[in-house]
Amino acid sequence: MREPEDLFSSVHYADVRRPVGEAFNLPPWCYTSPRFFQREIERLFAKVWNFAGRAERISKPGDYFTTDIATVPLLIARGADGKPRAFANTCRHRGCTVAKGEGNTRAFVCPYHSWTYSSSGDLIAAPTEMGESAGFNMKDYGLTQVRLESWGGFMFVNMDPTAPGLIEYLGNLPQLLKDYDCENMTLGRRLEFDVNCNWKFYAENLKDPLHVTSVHRDSISKFAPVKKYWREVQKTNGNMISTFMGYPASAMLFGDDAGFPMIKTLDKKKAGTTAPLIFPNLYIACTIDGAWYIHVNPVAADRIRLEQGALFPRESLATPGRDEILKRYFRRLDMTQAEDNEICTLQHKGLNSPLSRPGRYSTKEALVHQTVNWILDRVLD
Ligand code: FES
Ligand SMILES: [Fe+2]
Repeated sequence: MREPEDLFSSVHYADVRRPVGEAFNLPPWCYTSPRFFQREIERLFAKVWNFAGRAERISKPGDYFTTDIATVPLLIARGADGKPRAFANTCRHRGCTVAKGEGNTRAFVCPYHSWTYSSSGDLIAAPTEMGESAGFNMKDYGLTQVRLESWGGFMFVNMDPTAPGLIEYLGNLPQLLKDYDCENMTLGRRLEFDVNCNWKFYAENLKDPLHVTSVHRDSISKFAPVKKYWREVQKTNGNMISTFMGYPASAMLFGDDAGFPMIKTLDKKKAGTTAPLIFPNLYIACTIDGAWYIHVNPVAADRIRLEQGALFPRESLATPGRDEILKRYFRRLDMTQAEDNEICTLQHKGLNSPLSRPGRYSTKEALVHQTVNWILDRVLD
């Protein structure tokens, strides 16, 4: 199916806008067109709260890491004053990236001509003979700051100075996850994957209950079959959707594998897994002994950089013999991650065909339908 000239006119999407039982999938070009992708970057990712990383990655003053968030190079750093900040990773002299990788530093020295910035982003040296540059004042050329706000140890950035704050964006997410105490959790492991698919395929997959029986047939479906344990779509406001799964054990372990103790603040009788997708692309699954998250970072129309983090209460990670215990969690996470990465790659390959046509949804895929409509609300004219 070829993309139309007036790509963002709502006439092309009327079939997606109908109630889920009558709706069609997004037209295939939404997943393959560089023009559509560029529009998502400008109208969606440039305006929403994007996950940037866990706060414990920069626990000490001077700690930093770099990351490209929805194609924009950023530098996330904790200043000497202890405050976390986000900056454009773009030198104010002639534009080079000023930092790479991660680490701890007192200053960022641009590799091109050595303009130097403090860990709070101020320009502290400009050794390029600026004396005759009219009106040049170092204090006007600090790194461009980007808004950074945190909840539960998750740091988010927003490139739109006029957007409402993070807490407003998240709606009742803090209440839904309150008992899991994400603030007290810390990373047991963090991985990144490059996957060749459009970011929406992956985001949709994270709230697609039907694929579990087939894609995860040999892994999670064996002990937590979708039909056996009730799942409920939770009431949400804010920019997210969420489900609760009544499987009473850890959804981060296989069957009877022994793990860490239950989160202290959880009520045993109500324990299960709460799994929100914070629009557009951060999935968090809080289970009875920890949590994992998946951030689907868009790189191009046909490529994502995926971050998976495994989180545990601090006291659990301080247990002697923790590495042996962690192996069991990672075995479970590695298996399902590989299964989802593969299925999303296959979906992209199949849909990226001149012969593909929009398909139909099951009414059990209401959350997928809701997700793509949330995206259209922001992207269309
Ligand atoms: S571009 Fe950074 S110092 Fe010149
Ligand atoms: Fe999956």
